[in-house]
Amino acid sequence: MPMLDLHDLPISAFIAPDGSNRQAVAPLLEQALQLALDYAAQASELPPLPTAMPGLPGTALPEQGLAEEQLLAHLRSLISASLHPAHPGYIGHMDSLPTTMSLVGDLLSAVLNNNMLSVEMSPLFSRLEWTTLRELAQLFGLGPRAGGLLLSGGSLANLEALAIARNQILGLSGGALTSLGARPVLFASAAAHTSLHKAAMLLGLGSQAVIPVPVDESGHLDVHQLPTLIEQAQARGDRPFCVVATAGTTVAGVIDPLAAIAAIAHRYDLWFHVDAAYGGALIFSEQLRPRLAGIEQADSLTFNPQKWLYISKTCAMLLLRDTSLFTQAFRIPVPYMRQSEAQGEATDDTPPNLGEIGLQGTRHSDILKLWLSLQHLGRRGYARLVEQTCQLAMLAYTRLRTLPALRFAHPPETNLLCFRAEPDWLPAAAHDELNARLQSALLEQERIFLSLPLYEGRRWLRAVLLNPYTDEQVIERLTTGLARLLEQERQQHDSSQAPGR
Ligand SMILES: Cc1ncc(COP(=O)(O)O)c(C=O)c1O
Repeated sequence: MPMLDLHDLPISAFIAPDGSNRQAVAPLLEQALQLALDYAAQASELPPLPTAMPGLPGTALPEQGLAEEQLLAHLRSLISASLHPAHPGYIGHMDSLPTTMSLVGDLLSAVLNNNMLSVEMSPLFSRLEWTTLRELAQLFGLGPRAGGLLLSGGSLANLEALAIARNQILGLSGGALTSLGARPVLFASAAAHTSLHKAAMLLGLGSQAVIPVPVDESGHLDVHQLPTLIEQAQARGDRPFCVVATAGTTVAGVIDPLAAIAAIAHRYDLWFHVDAAYGGALIFSEQLRPRLAGIEQADSLTFNPQKWLYISKTCAMLLLRDTSLFTQAFRIPVPYMRQSEAQGEATDDTPPNLGEIGLQGTRHSDILKLWLSLQHLGRRGYARLVEQTCQLAMLAYTRLRTLPALRFAHPPETNLLCFRAEPDWLPAAAHDELNARLQSALLEQERIFLSLPLYEGRRWLRAVLLNPYTDEQVIERLTTGLARLLEQERQQHDSSQAPGR
């Protein structure tokens, strides 16, 4: 019998650690599992995006808790009104269906409810994270002192990378920016992710401290302009400290010339950060990893397994070439935590308290689902996923190029394809709206969802071919659907231009 009077609580409010309510909890968990499986195994029958938005279930705090049946019924309607990234026609964003081991890992992480803040609070998971990320750092070729930690998203990983770069290069860990007497600046391509600007703002540098390097005609950071921009900043009295290259740009999926950028960054004694949030997954494929040549020279690297490794959200990492810099340029000890003996050297088997060297304090044990998925699919499994989805993007590129009205941002370098309709029978000023109409019609008529990003000042259609169940038939539907819609658009346009109208 518990000491507290738990009478006002539902009997299944917690799983009693003495097993006394096991019988009552089991049906709830079984029904929830059934619901999850029923949903996941039929996701292709739902539209990729919900078509109507039903009212929210009541959100007022009830005086008396609701019955489990009622909550399960609410869950059913919440599920049907959610986004369905598992649908093979959902190819608009960098979201995919999660690995099965992600679900297993998330469930067990919640049951165990360890805390990645410190070794004391997650003795095994802290070690699992430290050693697994050390392995991944080796896969990226970052060298014997490399390793890292997980964070809740690539934006946080980029933020911590820039904080470490700033502190290390400008010697700022304890001091204030004002002591510099100069504005610290960094360089990234004009197509780099906005999280860098957010990070610069949060670090007190101002979002304009990210100096945009123009991209060349293939969407890559233009390495010829980078030295000039660095020297111009120095001549103005600014303090350059970092160059960021992107491996897999968010909109077009292209990979900056990493080796050439690394050489320039190091020539000017700047930190070299690679934002490989998306494209980092190519490292798993022997065949495709040469596309990341130069990544092994990164001082820091962001990689999001929540994207192309199919780990459920969130799961992102920051890797450092030298893990002792976590301690030197970032660590603030937590006084209420038993100190780990480890100094955070990658060669140590005992990790430091990860919450002291990481941006986040209390943190979910995302490592469990990542480790389980890596062990379950293996390097070969991931290589296959990466290679086959890249092949699918090439197939889509080949098929869509048969439509003369389409223009492509760039040939695919990952599994992303960015294109827009620019038919010559319609004035250029009307092309953005045409592409928006095509996006809506594809969703309605073909159940294919493409996103509509703004890139170089125009609206584009973007396909992210992540889902392993998106096949040639989807590409065929996309191609024939677009051909039909463009023909309808042309006929409507012609009839609106006909004399007498
Ligand atoms: C290249 C790149 N970097 C960083 C991010 C930010 O990652 P997150 O949304 O996990 O914060 C993204 C997100 O799409 C990205 O594409």
